[in-house]
Amino acid sequence: MISIIILFFIYSSNAQQCDQISNVARFDCHSEKDSTKEKCLARNCCWRLPIKSANYTEKNSTGFGFVSVPFCYYPKDFPTYEIISTEITDFGQRIQILKKQTTYMPYDILNLTVDLIYETEQRFRIRIYDSVNKRYEVPLQVPIVEKKANITDYEIKLSQKPFAILVTRKSTGVTLFDSSVSPLIFADQFIKFSTRLSSPLLYGFGEHQQPLLINVTQEWKRLTFYTRDFPPMQHINLYGVHPFHINLERTSDNQTNVHGQFFLNSNAMDVDLQPLPAVTYTTIGGIIDLYIFTGPTVQNVIQQYWDIIGKPMMPPFWSLGFHLCRWGYNKIENIISSLERMQKADFPLDVQWTDIDAMSSHLDFTYDDEYFHGLPEFVRALQANGIHYVNIIDPGISSTQPAGSYFPYDDGIKRGIFMKKFNSTELITGKVWPGTTVFPDFTNPNAIEWWTNIAEAFHEVIPFDGMWIDMNEPSSFIDGSTDGCTDNTFDNPPFVPHVHGDALSAKTLCPSAQHYLSSHYNLHNMYGYFEAQATNQALKTIRKKRPFVLSRSSFAGSGQFTAHWTGDNQATFEDMYFSIPAILSFNMFGITHVGADICGFLLDTTEELCIRWMQLGSFYPFMRNHNALGQNDQDPASFSWEAQQIMKQALIMRYSLIPFWYTLHYEAAMESKTIIQPLFSEYLNDANTYDIDQQFLVGRAILVSPNLLPESDIVHAYIPQDVWYEFPSGIKLNSVGLFTDLNAPISKINVHIRGDFIIPMQIPGDNLVLGRGNPFTLIVAQSQLGTASGNLYWDDGDSIDSIETKTYNYLEFSLIDFNKLTINTLVSNYKDSAMRLDLIKILGVNKFVSNVTVNGENYSNYLYNIPDQILVIYALDLNMLAQSSQTIQWTFST
Ligand SMILES: *[C@@H]1O[C@H](CO)[C@@H](O)[C@H](O)[C@H]1NC(C)=O
Ligand SMILES: *[C@@H]1O[C@H](CO)[C@@H](O)[C@H](O)[C@H]1NC(C)=O
Ligand SMILES: *[C@@H]1O[C@H](CO)[C@@H](O)[C@H](O)[C@H]1NC(C)=O
Ligand SMILES: *[C@@H]1O[C@H](CO)[C@@H](O)[C@H](O)[C@H]1NC(C)=O
Ligand SMILES: *[C@@H]1O[C@H](CO)[C@@H](O)[C@H](O)[C@H]1NC(C)=O
Ligand SMILES: *[C@@H]1O[C@H](CO)[C@@H](O)[C@H](O)[C@H]1NC(C)=O
Ligand SMILES: *[C@@H]1O[C@H](CO)[C@@H](O)[C@H](O)[C@H]1NC(C)=O
Ligand SMILES: *[C@@H]1O[C@H](CO)[C@@H](O)[C@H](O)[C@H]1NC(C)=O
Ligand SMILES: *[C@@H]1O[C@H](CO)[C@@H](O)[C@H](O)[C@H]1NC(C)=O
Repeated sequence: MISIIILFFIYSSNAQQCDQISNVARFDCHSEKDSTKEKCLARNCCWRLPIKSANYTEKNSTGFGFVSVPFCYYPKDFPTYEIISTEITDFGQRIQILKKQTTYMPYDILNLTVDLIYETEQRFRIRIYDSVNKRYEVPLQVPIVEKKANITDYEIKLSQKPFAILVTRKSTGVTLFDSSVSPLIFADQFIKFSTRLSSPLLYGFGEHQQPLLINVTQEWKRLTFYTRDFPPMQHINLYGVHPFHINLERTSDNQTNVHGQFFLNSNAMDVDLQPLPAVTYTTIGGIIDLYIFTGPTVQNVIQQYWDIIGKPMMPPFWSLGFHLCRWGYNKIENIISSLERMQKADFPLDVQWTDIDAMSSHLDFTYDDEYFHGLPEFVRALQANGIHYVNIIDPGISSTQPAGSYFPYDDGIKRGIFMKKFNSTELITGKVWPGTTVFPDFTNPNAIEWWTNIAEAFHEVIPFDGMWIDMNEPSSFIDGSTDGCTDNTFDNPPFVPHVHGDALSAKTLCPSAQHYLSSHYNLHNMYGYFEAQATNQALKTIRKKRPFVLSRSSFAGSGQFTAHWTGDNQATFEDMYFSIPAILSFNMFGITHVGADICGFLLDTTEELCIRWMQLGSFYPFMRNHNALGQNDQDPASFSWEAQQIMKQALIMRYSLIPFWYTLHYEAAMESKTIIQPLFSEYLNDANTYDIDQQFLVGRAILVSPNLLPESDIVHAYIPQDVWYEFPSGIKLNSVGLFTDLNAPISKINVHIRGDFIIPMQIPGDNLVLGRGNPFTLIVAQSQLGTASGNLYWDDGDSIDSIETKTYNYLEFSLIDFNKLTINTLVSNYKDSAMRLDLIKILGVNKFVSNVTVNGENYSNYLYNIPDQILVIYALDLNMLAQSSQTIQWTFST
């Protein structure tokens, strides 16, 4: 009776506070599934049906992931923090904030410290943490800034009561961050804060299956972050965690800036988006550690973000080639026949893979000597032909083999590197492919040596060239462990973000399990990160060459160690489409060497789908065709003769562009540039580009417009206002700055080269190893002003320290005045391989060429194609390293 009276009292006192709040400004006070009026009022929140208005169209709450205007929301006067002191510090400001009363979550932390760190001109960091007790923080090595940046493009204002932070861009006055929209809540296992967005147009927030543009103009969205093994589907937390986004800021004169935001937190979390527009972070641990990157361009934001999380690794050259894998070769004869038909049909191939079926009883670091008898010799024979080999390793180590018979387990026990149960020395066990397994704790420094040793022992049996680390969410076939979980607050937190399976232990380990560094509750999302780091290190030690790691699970910064593929997709046109936003987003997340399973992993592909996907996949940074157990063969050579010819064309396009791709990887690793980019990144003021995710740019120069529809001969594409030439024909496009239907029969993928760029290419070989010494070619795509430029990075492709020791060649190409092309060799320390330029194709030459000179000498091997306006200079045999500067010139007849 008493409680009812209290509820009534609070409800009525809040009435006015509640009614003033519009639908879009409602911040959810009870996002748990079982929200009711009683539960809402017990939290002292407002409970109202959505206000009926033109803005609000009622939708039926069917399907998962559905969110809309909350019924339960915070009143304006919901208790929160106020500032009690501020202090100027070397790094900026330190503020003490205090909340006078606890609210609805257990263990509210009432005294907090807020650090405002003016890190650089464009980078601002907000840290909010317990003033008294040290809490878990993400073990990433981020830069520590002790001195405030002098000049900044941002301005900070504070609200004292209630406490709030407002960040604006100085030059435009646009709001970048405004936490006054909802109350800050900071309890031991529930931290929640919101900020106003500059616009409802956002990008990032992975890993999720979603379009590139997250548009909350009218919609409410919830994205959950918790690494999970699940075939990519919308509204589900997937394999990786990247709480980073980019937000567009449109100004009144149609100029667009962007800024980025990174929430450095590794606990399970929900991100709620609403049309105010605003974002709400709800995490269940750690602290608030938030970065704002003021850009103002997309590439600026990316660069500022990667300064925090680390730049992508420089991959080995061979890993840019075509990779072939399947789960379910089942026996070595099937790999051999696949390889033979590939070779017979003249397909280039760089990397042969095997999946778990090649293991003995699914045990890591073994092979099945019955069905894959002779695998070691087979791998060595591949390598003798320049083909590399990668195998799969899962983190779960079988714990049920006879004592003394399985070294990975026995040695791991000796070194004490497996994860333990809560408050116990007993190991936690799950079930994965080999049955009951234990899980290595890669946060334990001793685990690196153990991992290196067992990998090295196996490397002596089969000299693999790279490691594929799968199932590292970590995935288990059972929930929690073979002994269940505890009932403590790690395993039963007061709030569980909207994870698939409803529990943090769903198909993974108990959150209460212990790592060396902290609890699994805190580190679950980083399991794959630490495994990738350990694997990268192990490969360096074992092979003494540049490592190649492919990891399914990832966290912010994983790109320093690993490549990524988008997991267990399906052989559908829809999943082929979704691969593009995924690859674009992962580039923003700093994992630039990324691809999706080409032709689809689950389900049987079709010849049409596989052709389209091979064409698209030729423009993924990481190009692997892979399918699942029981599916039909889908290696290119398993299709009809016609299909094979088309796929071969696509592969030849890819292989001919490898010098361009390799240079992009160098620029990603050194200059923090994405390899694959969305159109809006290059055409930021063109609003037509904001939601384009069926087309993409390779670097800044190549526009790819794949046909993603079944039984279609055209692709509806946007051609930005610029100069474009069709690839490979070199013919200039006449209609630009519009949406247009491009001819796209099954034999064709539309690819265009952007004016003002020079693309270094190479005549393809049977694989990248065998083709390394082949001649180079250049495509010079002129701008309207007769200019173009490009560059080329070249090294031995495999050394760990080529960049650090400057053992590479670096060339710059530039065209000026419509007729003068210069090749400048800026670095030429790598001399082992010839760099001969054979052919130059200059596009957009609209006057008749009467003569050509090379380094001042008359040169007669050229052709000028009048209708296509292309000048081809051939049979050059020019050593590009011969002189520091070389010039090719041509004259027009008057
Ligand atoms: C409807 O939208 C407008 C403009 O975004 C906003 O100002 C208003 O508060 C909204 N109304 C409701 C009931 O949400
Ligand atoms: C919601 O579902 C009910 C019952 O299925 C149906 O009658 C109603 O028309 C639906 N409303 C909307 C807005 O779709
Ligand atoms: C919290 O801050 C208040 C006000 O500064 C202070 O009186 C109190 O002792 C602090 N509590 C703790 C646990 O430090
Ligand atoms: C800021 O300016 C002062 C005085 O000009 C200078 O001494 C200091 O090094 C500058 N700090 C930074 C971080 O640039
Ligand atoms: C965002 O969504 C709104 C409402 O659905 C739509 O009008 C607008 O065109 C979308 N913006 C972009 C850039 O797609
Ligand atoms: C901005 O763009 C919109 C739509 O593209 C246009 O209607 C408006 O006139 C532009 N405003 C300015 C200042 O250019
Ligand atoms: C940990 O285990 C010990 C010994 O069993 C027990 O006394 C202690 O209460 C446990 N601690 C926690 C936090 O459960
Ligand atoms: C070609 O052009 C160069 C530079 O204009 C000129 O010096 C040379 O004589 C020309 N050669 C021929 C064959 O016309
Ligand atoms: C190029 O050819 C032209 C015409 O044949 C000749 O006059 C000129 O001397 C030649 N130039 C060189 C550098 O050989």
